[in-house]
This record gives sequence, C-alpha cells and structure tokens, in this order.
Amino acid sequence: MPVEFRPIRPEELAQFADVNLTAFGERGDPWFERWFRERVKPQDTIAAFADGQMVGSSLAFPLELALPGTVVTASGVTAVGVLPTHRRRGLLREMMTRQILGARDQGLAMAILWASEGAIYSRFGFGPAARSWRVALEHPRAQLVPLPTSGSLRMVGRDEALQRFPPLHDHLLQSRPGTIGRDQRAWEMSLSEDDPHLPRDEARLFLVVHQGDGGDDGYLVYRIRQAWSALGARSTLLISEMVANAPGAAADMWRYCLEVDLVHRVEASGRGLRPLDDPILWLAKDPQALELGLGTTIWARIIDVPEVLSARRYQRDGDLTIEVSDPVEHLAEGRFRLHVANGVGECRKTESSPDLILGVSELSSACLGQRCLTGLAAAGRLSMGDPAAARRADDLLAWDPPPWCFEDF
Ligand SMILES: CC(C)(COP(=O)(O)OP(=O)(O)OC[C@H]1O[C@@H](n2cnc3c(N)ncnc32)[C@H](O)[C@@H]1OP(=O)(O)O)[C@@H](O)C(=O)NCCC(=O)NCCS
Repeated sequence: MPVEFRPIRPEELAQFADVNLTAFGERGDPWFERWFRERVKPQDTIAAFADGQMVGSSLAFPLELALPGTVVTASGVTAVGVLPTHRRRGLLREMMTRQILGARDQGLAMAILWASEGAIYSRFGFGPAARSWRVALEHPRAQLVPLPTSGSLRMVGRDEALQRFPPLHDHLLQSRPGTIGRDQRAWEMSLSEDDPHLPRDEARLFLVVHQGDGGDDGYLVYRIRQAWSALGARSTLLISEMVANAPGAAADMWRYCLEVDLVHRVEASGRGLRPLDDPILWLAKDPQALELGLGTTIWARIIDVPEVLSARRYQRDGDLTIEVSDPVEHLAEGRFRLHVANGVGECRKTESSPDLILGVSELSSACLGQRCLTGLAAAGRLSMGDPAAARRADDLLAWDPPPWCFEDF
C-alpha cells in the first residue's frame, strides 16, 4: 500500500489533531484544540496518508533553546503519532527523517523532543540531554535544616504573574542550558487553569513570587490535591514550576511548600521536575526522607556538529577530536576538531586521528553540558583511542549548572 507523506493543508488541521489524539488514546477538548490552533502551522507538519486517509502526524516548529552560554533556535519535534492500525511499517521513520532533514534545510543545527517512550529515539540520533529529579517529601519525616530566609514571598494573581514571572524565566533562559524560551501565548497557556488533564478540584494554580535584596529573584507555581483522613488533613502540594535565580530563593520556596497548612506531602513532578543540582538534596536534615526518582526531560539531536560546538560556550579551554557516526542519512557524520580558547569554541572538519569515536546520539547527550561521556564509556557506548579521553571530553563539554528543562511542548 503506497503511503504519501506531505505537510497538511489548513483545512486538515482538525483531522491532524484527531490522528494525534487517537495515537495517544486521548479525547479531544477545548484546551488541546487551542494548543493546536495556536501552535500548529501547516508548513511545520508532515503527515502520512494511506489510501487517502491521514494515519500519521508529526510537527516540528522552531523554538528558542538555551545551550551552555548562548541561546539558539532549535527544531522542537512533537505531536508524533501513528494510528494503531498502521504501526510498525516505517511511518514514524519516514516522518522523523523528513522532519530532521527539513530542520537542516531551514538552517537549524539541533532538534529536541520529549519522548513518550525513551527506547524509540536514539535510532534517530537523539540522546537524553537533560535529566531531573522527581522529588516527594512528607511530614513529619521531612525536616529542613533551619536557616535564615534570604527574602520574602508574596502571593500574586494571574495578571500580576504574567507581568512578573517572564523576566525571571528570561534570566533562566540566559543561565540554564536546556531552558526553552516562552512567548506570551506560552505563558498564558502555562498559567491557565483550564488544562483538562487535571482533575477539576486540583486545577487551581497558586502563584508566588520570591523577592530578595535585588528585587524579584524566583517564582513558584503550585496546586493542591485535597485529602482528609480520620487523622485530619493530608493534602498534597504539587509543585508545577519553581524557578530560583538567586542563592537561597529555592530554599525559601521549599520551606514555604512544606509549611503550607493542611499539606502533608509535597511533590515535584511533571513540569515541577527539579534540576539535578536542586538544593533540596542539601536542605533535608535526613536525605533519606526524600523520595527521589530520576527523570529524563528533553532529548536532543545535533544536526550540524561544527555549528553546535562552535555556538555553545565552555568553562574550560582545551582541544578534542571526535569521529561521529549518524544513523539518519549520515547527516552529522564526520571527523571534527574542537579548539576552545577563553571559553569560545571553534569546531571544524579534520583529518587528525580521533580522541573519541561516538554516535551522534551520545554526542547530543553531552551538548547541553550534561557530564555523561565517562558514564557512556563505562557502559561500553563509546570507542576510545585513549581511555582517559572520555573524562577529558567531559571536562571540556560539561557545564555548571547542569541542563534542566521543564517545558513540555
Ligand atoms: C511511537 C509511534 C509513533 C511509532 O510509529 P511507527 O510508525 O509504528 O514506527 P516505525 O514503524 O516507523 O518504527 C521505526 C523504528 O522505531 C521502533 N519503534 C517504534 N515504536 C517503538 C516503541 N514504542 N518502542 C521502541 N521502539 C519503537 C521500530 O521498531 C522501528 O525500529 P527499526 O526501524 O530500528 O527496526 C507509534 O507507535 C505511536 O503513535 N505510539 C503512540 C504515541 C506515541 O508514543 N508517540 C511518540 C511521541 S514522543
């Protein structure tokens, strides 16, 4: 059966949304329709048609992504789905290949995505590039180290939050690799209480700004899941977003979360996932009182190696020669020499022998500054001339603070 792949026409938008919902086994709703109307431009889509029926969907749109020390435009791949009747016959492979080649043709050097199932995407050159913690703590076991506060907290309404939170997020974009830029529409969606995926009685968002000596330096968005038992209130406070741009701000907000009356448990998951360097790890008197789970947020895929390695910044100087293989049309393949001086990298093709031989998926895992090459080498996923090369490469490519992304697009 011949399958046609092409961008959708404007009048096919509702069908595109429906194919995606069906692939995920979900029901349509006004919130999702609004997301599609605002985000989906027909020219950013590739859909699959079998016998004239749309059976597969994919979308890749340009977004702002923070790399170490700089912000670039990357291709954000999402809305990928194939109807259950047409799976495992190569439709995703064809749509994904076209989306990656399309991003290259637009001059984009990277693509990123959130994976529904992590086992799918390394075959397309993506690697897990930002990890984070799911955190939960409960009274009375979780006690925080007593410390003076570093500022004050104030509850704000949605309109005020829409004024005060974006500059704090912009600061994060400039300082934390993995952050995705937000426009006004994205802000309105993130602070909307209409998300149908949430039960109605826990959809209310509570908005708090943290002010330090220099003014606003953090914000917190949370919800409450109410629960009562014979012993009294046992509600859960669900952190939706916590951004802290100054030392002490995150500590104050964690303390606040634990001290909200009637709250028995605090959870940070979903968009509330915490960065690997979150101070909660050092704030809990008993670290074993923290329930921690390691989550992967974004997967990255380098499309143009010299472009990405020359665009991002470095915290050490040095040289590295790598040989990269690429399972998608040998797109990013080649041997490259990276020379870093004063934190600025210059990456070019070379004929020199490589320090490291690796796949584009593994290199992509390292490109946002995650220290992972030593671990990948230990896992047997890199070939090295010199066994110390992975550590040297990590020293050169790793960035502090580590990458973090909470924007599920
Ligand atoms: C995931 C999904 C898009 C795959 O579509 P598909 O057309 O069946 O995929 P393909 O036939 O093109 O498979 C391409 C490759 O990916 C592999 N693959 C596909 N789905 C996979 C899965 N869920 N887990 C692991 N590997 C998977 C295939 O085995 C194939 O591997 P190979 O070519 O190396 O042998 C489809 O199953 C789907 O819509 N799932 C539900 C929605 C979803 O999870 N979407 C992804 C959003 S991030």
